[in-house]
Amino acid sequence: MIGRAQGPRVSITGLGCHVPERVVTNEELATLVETSDEWIVERTGIRERRIAAPEEALTDLALPAARAALAQAGLEGRDIDFLVCATVTPDMMFPTSSALLADMLGAPTAAAYDLLAGCTGFMYAVAQAYAMLASGLARRALVVGGDVLSRILDWTDRSTVVLFGDGAGAVVLEHVEEGGFLGFELGADGGGGLHLSLPGSGSRQVPDASGFVHMNGREVFKFATRVLVSSAQDLLKTCGVAVEDVDVYIPHQANVRIMNHAVGKLGIPPERMVVNVDRYGNTSSGSIPLALADADAEGRLHQGDLVLMTGMGAGLTWGSGLLEWTKPGPS
Ligand code: UT7
Repeated sequence: MIGRAQGPRVSITGLGCHVPERVVTNEELATLVETSDEWIVERTGIRERRIAAPEEALTDLALPAARAALAQAGLEGRDIDFLVCATVTPDMMFPTSSALLADMLGAPTAAAYDLLAGCTGFMYAVAQAYAMLASGLARRALVVGGDVLSRILDWTDRSTVVLFGDGAGAVVLEHVEEGGFLGFELGADGGGGLHLSLPGSGSRQVPDASGFVHMNGREVFKFATRVLVSSAQDLLKTCGVAVEDVDVYIPHQANVRIMNHAVGKLGIPPERMVVNVDRYGNTSSGSIPLALADADAEGRLHQGDLVLMTGMGAGLTWGSGLLEWTKPGPS
């Protein structure tokens, strides 16, 4: 799916994020599995990640992120009429985490549901919220992206535990006068789906399923390097925007080698790319909103800047959004 935004303008008016307190360094991981700080940094760029406490679940990370986003937008929970939470690690399959969050935030009139699109979930969810607002069906949306992937990792598998971390981010979407989203490109290739899967997690019975993430790292790497470039190029073309005009580039924070490849192939100056994978690892649906919130906190996002975001992950899925940045705050 690809489209240039047409109807009323919609933008991000509030953003927030939250990560667990506990920092797990590469050195600590090296005491659990056969790996080293040197290997992890060289192959992934990751130095540390946050890991949820045993009693923490997705909504414990999502709630503070959502509250921060609402506060920045100058809104209360009751102002939200559309709430979507992108995650592959909800508190439980049902009730949905978004329904639980709507209750915690005091948003009784919000339509609320969870969205499952792997690490691309946040981009899919933002596109849906955009469309709900642009069509006039909703007035104020809250989009949450977050995961507690540490719960579904095999902590004896060095090829996956070094990559992932826990975290959540949230954004409020509202109508604006100027700027806002310019377009989206979203896609899926289920043919490659089993390269990144959680066997036995649904109605398909899988004898002896481990209950842990299974990943063919090399295949996902090839897919990721391809779609980060093609999705961004297709979207820029559809929106009539030259790559030189992209001010801030936010790729999914999976592996710094994948990100460096994409920024180079796209021809975006590397200093325009936001990188925080070194501190958080791959937080799945939390990755792009965490990077956005970091970039905003660091003063890297200015009114009128063109912000290009691309996610990719399980499905296999991918998704890009192009946004003319508007200063968050009460509208
Ligand atoms: O959101 C999307 C989710 N996933 C991704 O984006 C992941 C995409 N894939 C990747 O980022 C990379 O493929 C990895 C970081 C997972 C692996 O890096 P690589 O450069 O593709 O390594 P490799 O799989 O080719 O493995 C090279 C070697 C292997 O040893 P041999 O067979 O050459 O003897 C692995 O067993 O590195 C070994 N290895 C490790 N060594 C130390 C794999 N994991 C580790 C480890 N520590 N943690």
